[in-house]
Amino acid sequence: MSVRIVLGAQWGDEGKAKVVDYMTADSDVVVRFQGGANAGHTIKAGDLEFVFHLIPAGIVHPDKTCVIGNGVVMDPEALFLEVEELESKGISIQDRLFVSPNTHLVMPYHKRVEQASEERDGADAIGTTLRGIGPCYQDKVNRSSGIRVGDLFDADAMPAKVRENVRQKNEILENVYGQDGLDATPIIEAYTAFGERLAPFVTDTSVYLNDMIDAGKDVLFEGSQGTLLDIDHGTYPFVTSSNTTAGGACTGAGIGPTRISEVIGVVKAYTTRVGNGPFPTELTGAMGDRIREIGHEYGATTGRPRRCGWLDAVILRFAARVNGLSGIAVTRLDILDPLDEIRICTHYTCRGKRMEHFPNDVKVLADCEPVYESMAGWRASTSDARRWEELPENARRYLDRIQELSRTPIAMVSVGPDRKETIVVD
Ligand code: IMO
Ligand code: MG
Repeated sequence: MSVRIVLGAQWGDEGKAKVVDYMTADSDVVVRFQGGANAGHTIKAGDLEFVFHLIPAGIVHPDKTCVIGNGVVMDPEALFLEVEELESKGISIQDRLFVSPNTHLVMPYHKRVEQASEERDGADAIGTTLRGIGPCYQDKVNRSSGIRVGDLFDADAMPAKVRENVRQKNEILENVYGQDGLDATPIIEAYTAFGERLAPFVTDTSVYLNDMIDAGKDVLFEGSQGTLLDIDHGTYPFVTSSNTTAGGACTGAGIGPTRISEVIGVVKAYTTRVGNGPFPTELTGAMGDRIREIGHEYGATTGRPRRCGWLDAVILRFAARVNGLSGIAVTRLDILDPLDEIRICTHYTCRGKRMEHFPNDVKVLADCEPVYESMAGWRASTSDARRWEELPENARRYLDRIQELSRTPIAMVSVGPDRKETIVVD
């Protein structure tokens, strides 16, 4: 029996899905526990490539089940687009996907309000994915306006609730943003139809998961976004609206912390960030452009170019601490193959002081200067390596330094997008 969490140790896009896909082979169930269609999880299996936003990446393995937990905010339109794409590629979700009735629904007005607010904020905007994530979590916490999957089956209450929410959101759209409001009727019709399609998948997923764990099955949690986008621990306010850290798996799925056996932090061999907010090791010049081009660093959900920079060990120690990481999976090592020199930030200097810990306050972070250690590149392809010993010596040095500085052992190294381009470390 194993209950493992895979989560992002940086600002998202670390290659979590590749790691999840690999680890799904020895799992029975894969679970999404937070976030929503803001995620873009890409996996490559032979000639097929999939980008998942809501369905756990484990779904491509035909003998596994998948769960969308209560902590997720689900856009049913995005969900069924994904279902249809999977079915067109011959992958059935029948009897393999379970959705919690407590999962909150992203509604069309969430996206409209978010779009209006991001537009108004201009250069100060968070730079969200515009998937309605923040406004949906706001309604969840607000309680009176949240709509959950289970509410779709209350034919009397649901239309009235949607009407009242639309009335309130229209007041905001019209009076605050000077925009046209929405019409409630087509939303009610669409969500009634979604309810009918969703009904076969809805189950008490906390009971299901705990029963699976009791039966000795292997459960894998697929985090979305990353540690520094966590609503409590990330670079607030430039964060997402959920707990992306390990505790989120418990609250977002209805399992207790004593059930967890491992927490794997996925670490990209360099750092990227999409959206606004601080990024101490960002490379704004030619080197940043070079990494973006070699790594095709463009968002899987929004297509935006990702900001690129060197690996930051301050962040890795932070991720190890707030998640209790038992191991890390280093991804995209191969992207660094052509570089002559690779830098790694060991600590910051801030207002004249040495800083080992990641600061909680973005104003303090803005005054932090990264201090780098330079390492020689390996200038050789790593993509054919299947064992640690097959990696070039300088690549092993770089990885060893990551383990030392993060004080966390490396459990896996990814040297390419394909499943087989993976090194498992004992
Ligand atoms: P995966 O799971 C990278 C970022 C957005 C923005 C901030 C808030 O693929 O790693 P939101 O739409 O969540 O309210 O946006 O969070 N963001 C991500 N960045 N990877 C993601 O997901 C992200 N999901 C959200 O760019 O800065
Ligand atoms: Mg992504």
